[in-house]
Amino acid sequence: MPGPRLLTTEFDGSATASEVVAGHDLSGLRAVVTGGAGGIGLATTWALASAGADVTMAVRALDAGRTAAAAVDADVPGPVRAVHLDLADLGSVARFVAAWEGPLHLLVNNAGVVTSGLERTREGWELQFVVNYLGHFALTTGLHDALRRGSAERDGSRIVNLSSTALMRADVDWTTRTSGPGRTTRRSPMPGPRPPPP
Ligand SMILES: NC(=O)c1ccc[n+]([C@@H]2O[C@H](COP(=O)([O-])OP(=O)(O)OC[C@H]3O[C@@H](n4cnc5c(N)ncnc54)[C@H](OP(=O)(O)O)[C@@H]3O)[C@@H](O)[C@H]2O)c1
Repeated sequence: MPGPRLLTTEFDGSATASEVVAGHDLSGLRAVVTGGAGGIGLATTWALASAGADVTMAVRALDAGRTAAAAVDADVPGPVRAVHLDLADLGSVARFVAAWEGPLHLLVNNAGVVTSGLERTREGWELQFVVNYLGHFALTTGLHDALRRGSAERDGSRIVNLSSTALMRADVDWTTRTSGPGRTTRRSPMPGPRPPPP
């Protein structure tokens, strides 16, 4: 069985999103960009849609997302919409997945948070670890069938995970619940006390 194909690129970190999509026709490509309403996610959404892609911005703040989607939609050819997704809430991830219809060709796991101290989700998990890793893991596995269908249509589907060099400072410590400024990403995956059953 052949191994995974290594993707190579002529671009480096100085390239802009517009330079990367220049000359490409992405008509018919369906993409999801998490955290698409601001920052790198918005630039990614704009670039993909400017090349004709159909982009769903998966956003936590739906009103702001809709405003951003309308602005992009008015500016570029590809259709753009905002759909609610809170990666810190696995129920929200499940609802996003359940509502998704049809194939998916590109999933950009862009959203991320950096907390200045210990914050936990309702389930008691450390917030950064949930938003940056577990939520995206649940989203990606939930959308697997859609990505598989997209793959059959367009010579493979793609999953892009944005990350940070900050993770290279240390490994994840699976044994401690310790957390604090500057080390939450790597040191606090363990959940706190579980909430009582309903
Ligand atoms: N910018 C950099 O220099 C840099 C460097 C290294 C890595 N990165 C990585 O690149 C990615 C994008 O960075 P950025 O600079 O564009 O960040 P940003 O401007 O802070 O945007 C992050 C996005 O994530 C969304 N988000 C946060 N929590 C969420 C949740 N629970 N559910 C859904 N969405 C959530 C935010 O939504 P709200 O608007 O609702 O808060 C926002 O749209 C991140 O993964 C980051 O770690 C960036």
